[in-house]
Amino acid sequence: MSVTTTRLVQAAIDAAKTAYAPYSNFHVGAALLLDNGQIVTGSNFENASYGMTLCAETVAISKANSDGQLRAIREIAVAGGLVGQIGTGAGPIMPCGRCRQIIKEVADLTQSDIPVHCAHATGYTTFHLSELLPHGFGPASLK
Ligand code: THU
Repeated sequence: MSVTTTRLVQAAIDAAKTAYAPYSNFHVGAALLLDNGQIVTGSNFENASYGMTLCAETVAISKANSDGQLRAIREIAVAGGLVGQIGTGAGPIMPCGRCRQIIKEVADLTQSDIPVHCAHATGYTTFHLSELLPHGFGPASLK
């Protein structure tokens, strides 16, 4: 395991603890590694109107964007689980379909097949956006 990736996954686990998820009790954290080595985090933010929920990855990417760092995102880590069990699942925690589409915007902007490190009980598994969202719709599709 690369030390930087381990740190990024740990940041996602820590971020999950800030989730507002009283409806699902499923806490998710996302951590973005920027090109300057900084880490931007986000967690899921639920709503009484369930469908309004914002996922951790989306929160983190929006946060990076409002800090002027959208194009600086290089890698993403995601961790989650029920309260008290974050990062302990047997299988990797995978980004939902909507988040894959949000990550695609970053991948296309940065012309990089962004690695997404998905946490599980024994560490993490790395997927690339092209594996998570093959044949996706992106900025080039609008031309
Ligand atoms: N969730 C995320 O934050 N990211 C994902 O990629 C998948 C799901 C959240 C949404 C909801 O608050 C909870 O996990 C259960 O679905």
